[in-house]
Amino acid sequence: MEYKIKIFLNGKETMFNVSEGETLIDTIRERAGLKGCKRGCDSGECGACTVLLDGVPINSCSLLSVQADGRSVVTIEGLSNGAKLHPVQQAFYDAGAVQCGYCIPGMVLSAKALLDKNPSPSDGEIRKALSGNLCRCTGYTKIEAAVKLAAKRMNGVQNE
Ligand code: FES
Ligand code: FES
Repeated sequence: MEYKIKIFLNGKETMFNVSEGETLIDTIRERAGLKGCKRGCDSGECGACTVLLDGVPINSCSLLSVQADGRSVVTIEGLSNGAKLHPVQQAFYDAGAVQCGYCIPGMVLSAKALLDKNPSPSDGEIRKALSGNLCRCTGYTKIEAAVKLAAKRMNGVQNE
């Protein structure tokens, strides 16, 4: 059975015909063609498929597309302003927090959601916010540094 749903995808009202058991990751990657949303475990464990649903990070492999009907979904493609990276993206780049990059879209979106509600998080709060995003490459130290750098910049501290 097919359902017609409407998602505000990266700020744009977008209609999709989705199948009954289809998960949001498939709608995003295969129907919308947004490949920044990565499939890792496909079982809600790794966070590679993280998107923001009404501003909250969720695993898109674990949500039925019909559950996103009428809601806002932001993927990594929705963060930059044309060629200008979002401050969190820029901080990940500048801090050298990216190795293979597979986990990074999910990390960046989780970090953005954190900073949107808590502009000056503690180290523990950063770790907690990113605890659902696994990285096999970096050891997390530079990722934490990137989130702190983004927080400083977004709070107007330029010389760190
Ligand atoms: S692919 Fe969704 S949590 Fe791993
Ligand atoms: S940078 Fe490779 S998995 Fe995180």
